[in-house]
Amino acid sequence: MAGGPDRRSFHPAKGRWLAGKGERPYFAGMAIREILEVPDPRLKVVSKPVEKFDDALKTLVADMFETMYDAPGIGLAAIQVGVPLRVLVIDLQPEDEEAEPEVCTAHGGEEHTHRPVRREPRVFINPEILDPSEEHSIYNEGCLSVPEIYAEVERPATIRARWQDIDGAVHEEAMEGLMATCLQHEMDHLEGVLFIDHLSRLKRQMALKKLEKLRKAA
Ligand code: NI
Repeated sequence: MAGGPDRRSFHPAKGRWLAGKGERPYFAGMAIREILEVPDPRLKVVSKPVEKFDDALKTLVADMFETMYDAPGIGLAAIQVGVPLRVLVIDLQPEDEEAEPEVCTAHGGEEHTHRPVRREPRVFINPEILDPSEEHSIYNEGCLSVPEIYAEVERPATIRARWQDIDGAVHEEAMEGLMATCLQHEMDHLEGVLFIDHLSRLKRQMALKKLEKLRKAA
């Protein structure tokens, strides 16, 4: 999932997110992978469950974080880098309330101040959604596979999620807010579904046309 245009904490202050050069989340040798974009047919593939919790999985997850932070985004599914496995990474990267606001020139050119963001990397392998709430919430969603396009999508406001971690251990947690939305958005990718597939046919076509125009202009 891409950060919303209206959420300052997702500004691509890349230098700061990657600050403390020694402090990379996994290990050296991580690689930024190419993110597939619509209309790549691989984005419609249904991903397969992970069965082996081995070094190849650790490398995939490390690369997915590197790719997501670089984009920058707040969530990424393995199929978005062309790997049809049920693996998601999410980091909502909230603003660090304890930190002093800093002057930022990283995005938009103009100098302004905001707090640096905090990193909270999370990995979800073979995730499932249990008891989604009847109450829905609406977020302005974006997706690294549908660049520059944002649209409101309605989803269950709270869920319980069950998943495995990088070592295969099972976890369960109640989620709400942006975390619940982001997990559902990323889980859609595992079924070959994009957020624009939740829009009306007309709105989806308008979004794709806008994307086409932006690509031509680039
Ligand atoms: Ni997405």
